[in-house]
Amino acid sequence: MNPVLRALFLVGALAAPAFAANDPVQSPPRERLLMDTGWRFAFGHPSDKTRDFFHGTGKFSYVTKAGYADGPAAATFEDRGWRRLDLPHDWAVEAPFDAKASSSHGYKASGLDVSERSIGWYRKTFAIPSSDFGRRISVEFDGVFRDSVVWVNGFYLGRHACGYTGFRYDLTDYLNYGGDNVIAVRVDASMEEGWFYEGAGIYRHVWLTKTAPLHVTQWGSYVTTEVGEGAATVTARTTVANEGVEAAGFDVEQSIVDPDGRVVASGALRARSLAAGDTGEFSCVFSVAQPRLWSLESPALHRLVTTIRARGALLDRDETPFGIRSVRFDPDHGFFLNGRHVEILGTNNHQDHAGVGVALPDALQDFRVARLKEIGVNAYRSSHNPPTPEFLDACDRLGLLVLDENRLMGVSPEQLGQLESMIRRDRNHPSVIAWSLGNEEWAIEGNLKGARIAATMQAFAHRLDPTRRTTYANSGGWGGISTVIDLVGYNYINQSNPDEQHAKFPDHPGVGTEETTTQCARGVYFDDPARALLSPQLKGDTGGNSEKGWNYYAGRPFLAGLFFWTGFDLRGEAWPSGWPGVVSHFGFLDACGFPKDTAYYLKSWWTDEPVLHLYPHWNWPGKEGQEFTVGCFSNHEAVELFLNGVSLGRQTMPRNGHLEWKVAYAPGALESRGFRGGKVVATSRVETTGAPAELLLTPDRTAIDADGADAAVFTVSARDAQGRAVPTAGNLVDFDIKGGRIIGVGNGDPGCHEPDKFTETIALFTVEDWRGRIAPAGTTAPAAPELLQPFPVLGYYQAPLPKPGEVYDLAGTFTLPSVPAGTLELDLPTLGAKTTLWLNGREVARDIDTSAVGPSLPIDPARLVAGANRVQLIVTPFYDKLNHIPELTRLGSIHAFTPAPSARRSLFNGLAQVIVQSTREPGEIRLTAKAAGLTPAECVVTVRPAIRRAAVP
Ligand code: GAL
Repeated sequence: MNPVLRALFLVGALAAPAFAANDPVQSPPRERLLMDTGWRFAFGHPSDKTRDFFHGTGKFSYVTKAGYADGPAAATFEDRGWRRLDLPHDWAVEAPFDAKASSSHGYKASGLDVSERSIGWYRKTFAIPSSDFGRRISVEFDGVFRDSVVWVNGFYLGRHACGYTGFRYDLTDYLNYGGDNVIAVRVDASMEEGWFYEGAGIYRHVWLTKTAPLHVTQWGSYVTTEVGEGAATVTARTTVANEGVEAAGFDVEQSIVDPDGRVVASGALRARSLAAGDTGEFSCVFSVAQPRLWSLESPALHRLVTTIRARGALLDRDETPFGIRSVRFDPDHGFFLNGRHVEILGTNNHQDHAGVGVALPDALQDFRVARLKEIGVNAYRSSHNPPTPEFLDACDRLGLLVLDENRLMGVSPEQLGQLESMIRRDRNHPSVIAWSLGNEEWAIEGNLKGARIAATMQAFAHRLDPTRRTTYANSGGWGGISTVIDLVGYNYINQSNPDEQHAKFPDHPGVGTEETTTQCARGVYFDDPARALLSPQLKGDTGGNSEKGWNYYAGRPFLAGLFFWTGFDLRGEAWPSGWPGVVSHFGFLDACGFPKDTAYYLKSWWTDEPVLHLYPHWNWPGKEGQEFTVGCFSNHEAVELFLNGVSLGRQTMPRNGHLEWKVAYAPGALESRGFRGGKVVATSRVETTGAPAELLLTPDRTAIDADGADAAVFTVSARDAQGRAVPTAGNLVDFDIKGGRIIGVGNGDPGCHEPDKFTETIALFTVEDWRGRIAPAGTTAPAAPELLQPFPVLGYYQAPLPKPGEVYDLAGTFTLPSVPAGTLELDLPTLGAKTTLWLNGREVARDIDTSAVGPSLPIDPARLVAGANRVQLIVTPFYDKLNHIPELTRLGSIHAFTPAPSARRSLFNGLAQVIVQSTREPGEIRLTAKAAGLTPAECVVTVRPAIRRAAVP
């Protein structure tokens, strides 16, 4: 071993347990710690250096000298004035709506063209115990939108542009063992990757992973399964890295644990070795007898447990969930799961939800999967990007098929890297049935370049995962990508002709990657352009309606099925309405997940549950005598409609269709009777209701975990005096919560501009233009400003040092457009042992102890003026040869803090949604809802003690 490296290890051994690749491990072999809490956040700026905290402006910056990050990227930066928050975080959803903002991003005043909300800075301080010395420690980001740069302790780690792929940095060599460390992230959301809402910020989880030097790599295990008669062959390929400084000998042991926790197969590879710095793949093949297969009805999950041992000591233990199942696309007969034909009954979805934007608590992933499954959806296309890992976990657990989609097509190392990262991360998820290489790439889809690019990407994908086919969502340009792709994806039958394509290429299996729905807003039956509300668009802007699309696919067994555009409404793409529309109308479910009428069309034909759904509602005062089309979505053989007890006729339900009656409006009750075998087997009623009289709160779950992350979703509705849901109620509802926190509200109204989030705001003004001098001993009052020199003279590493007795005489300014409202505080960095401070010429603190932290003082707004404000300090230095004077990493700020207002939201057509997150306190969450003139509602959810996920405090 290189003697210098050996010496490094020996130094470590003094401070911590000795650790070489082959030595026994004292710490747990692997820790994966959630790093979501305790972050500080502030907006930076793309072009105004003052508002970007002077980041990157130093003579020596982070790309000039290692460890020279300046501004918030520096470890010493003063961030006490910054907002505290926990991840996941989406700053775009916190922004107000603005007609001038990007329509793609749902008119949220953030990102593109909104410079003051296009850059976000995140900082987190975390401790690393000295006992971690010798381990490999890395930070993993699941997704940051977008273009992030990361530093640790002032060292630049790298840049990651794509907002949808995960990335990691090895921190090991940069950390302070036995001390504090600071990670800083600058996120630049000023470009858009999509034409849909994408959020902004660190909107997925962050993890800190600690392993032994010899360890299974990130996403290192790849499990494939072959289902045979009475047994399955399971192949586990595990990549191990030796990041130690010596060659390592070890044993790899692997076992398969079934859904009940029983080990059903195991194997070992003994006496393997890896040279220092090498990685190797180690593979075991198992036979699992009578396995419980992963299926939609019974999504049984197995686990591969891999352990690495050396000389009896456990070095790593890694778990990889997987499912035993087979998937196959057939050009004539569609899709097969475990050899059984399954029609793909899919929807496309983006990742945003009402209230929270793209920063979803994990529980909301389950909520969304459940809403889709309820209406019969069995497949999900993650348009147009890889989803968050927790979404795929939910699909694995709950049984939903996934078409996992890459963001941008291309074959450069960066672009293939995105594809690789998606496949490596997701290839063990049994829910993932195929990879989508891209969507509607108009410049290439119908030409030779497209064919070449797709062929290269496809071959690359096959190398990483030979078990899954790849597809591409084609928008009508045939003869390019479609000629080479495994599985032809048809976006809309109005721009593709699958029959013709199938006749020409009978060996190509196909699936409908997008198909039109009946665009409409929930509960809206007349267009209202002023509010951007659409009634059901039966011709539809995308060329048809759900019924037309489903009948087409249902009648063609050679197609594997289809993915409607979309399951949930999504922010952005509010066309054809445009502003004031901020949310699309494409969903079967609105942005909260409340079903629109057409959801019952799907439910009728995509589930076996009896459905008898009448529309519209029957509250039409002033329209007495006017003819309405009353429709029924049902899977009964025939339906008879009654108005106020008078039959309007029985009709036979066409397969995959619906029924309609023309009815003159009269208040009262519409009733439908569903027939099977000539007998009435079900009834449903829609009644004219009275005015709203009371509110009702209904949670999706009655108990959640006290882990500070779990969430419950409350439905708010209004009832009339007889307890009937009022489908037209639009009351403004105020919420109050005890024992939890409201993280977002919504109502499914695509034209609603009420806030989604209620967060504290912090107006922050950096103290800049620092000047100073070294003043003679005994100086107690600041000098006239003209006697001070600009700080770089002092602030350099060669700065003159005060002699014992001498003090710093310093001054800086901050500029206020107006005196801010809210609670004011001035925070300055620690510059010396003691500080006396003046604000605009008046003393505000005398001789305060600033040896550990700098001054942090409440400020009376009467002391401030609009325009330039001056801070002056006489600082008793440390006299320790360290530079404690202001420089680009030590600025300070004044900030005005305004607490979050309480949450409120109007009902939209009778409904609103409140998303509530637990704290770490067990007990209960008590949510109350109040609206003027209505009886309030109160609802309690139990918060049960929970084992929290291991986390970085
Ligand atoms: C498709 C596109 C989708 C969405 C949809 C709206 O062409 O792939 O992302 O924009 O149109 O109709």
